[in-house]
Amino acid sequence: MSEQTPHRRRPRYSGKYPRRFEEKYKELDPAKHPETVAKVLSSGKTPAGSHVPIMVSEILEVLAPKPGDLAVDCTLGHGGHARELLRRVLPGGRLLGLDADPVELPRTEEILRGEGFGGDCLVVKKSNFAGIHAALEGEEADVILADLGVSSMQLDNPARGFTSKHAGPLDMRMNPARGIPASTWLERVRPPALAEILRENADEPHAELLAHALAGRSFSSTIAFAAAIRAALPGRPDPEVKKSVTRAFQAVRIEVNDEFAALDALLRTLPMCLKPGGRVAILAFHSGEDRRVKKAFQAGYREGVYSEIARDVLRAGPDECFANPRATSAKLRWARR
Ligand SMILES: C[S@@+](CC[C@H](N)C(=O)[O-])C[C@H]1O[C@@H](n2cnc3c(N)ncnc32)[C@H](O)[C@@H]1O
Repeated sequence: MSEQTPHRRRPRYSGKYPRRFEEKYKELDPAKHPETVAKVLSSGKTPAGSHVPIMVSEILEVLAPKPGDLAVDCTLGHGGHARELLRRVLPGGRLLGLDADPVELPRTEEILRGEGFGGDCLVVKKSNFAGIHAALEGEEADVILADLGVSSMQLDNPARGFTSKHAGPLDMRMNPARGIPASTWLERVRPPALAEILRENADEPHAELLAHALAGRSFSSTIAFAAAIRAALPGRPDPEVKKSVTRAFQAVRIEVNDEFAALDALLRTLPMCLKPGGRVAILAFHSGEDRRVKKAFQAGYREGVYSEIARDVLRAGPDECFANPRATSAKLRWARR
């Protein structure tokens, strides 16, 4: 006889809007509450626990996936881009989806398989995209996509510690089983190194000041780290301080995950992973990333590794930026082998 699961009431919250992640039960169960999700989307926000893919039509245009193609999504995330690529490479094609995140990856695979992308057409591997060559096991791809940074689900999950918006442990690791959490990293870093990282990873104008206030300290939570940043910038206008908080979180996240090293490795390896005529598109979200992509594609073009590259960076249109503010900072570049 099967055991009956006792009925559990959904969490109640006081006031008009839920404050805590778990209270966002309607957004977290989009299939049951499509009207709530539509309302959140129309207000220019991303529903909790989901991720709106960025510059989808532009990416599909430059990658031009077709039936029978082998596509690689280096950053599977919530599967938004992968779903669109899969629709175009079928019948006959396949998508290899990589992501370093062991928490979200199985959820995304389950979602995609539940949508009918079963069997061999979808291969999902937990891997840093620096290891794309090994993940391809000797095959060459027709199209490759990398949508850099973190997903909304990672940002929305307080346990991952990626933002100051939710109280949680100051972790920030895309793979919580590897490396050290941001809190430990901050305890060990020296002020000059932190200042350099704040400048290089996030163009922080108050890098020196913040580095002296934050380096070598122990922060018990995301909230404590954000409070220390605010305390280091007394008397500054609130919007300026908010930007510094966001930039400091970004700079530390990039360091904790060694994001530039992974991107450099991907950029070096890409030509070996593409068929002749194959295309790669990379979505970057800040100047440190975009500079690397631009330089690598230009160098590859000069050396004859790529036959064609994006002349200019492509940006999201005003409608998309209005609907999804995260698209505002997106910079898309592409190259053809
Ligand atoms: C912006 S999200 C991708 C969202 C996805 N395109 C979608 O439409 O749902 C970035 C994803 O890349 C992953 N990621 C970031 N750096 C990575 C790396 N070096 N190797 C593998 N995955 C990485 C993150 O874990 C995150 O899931």
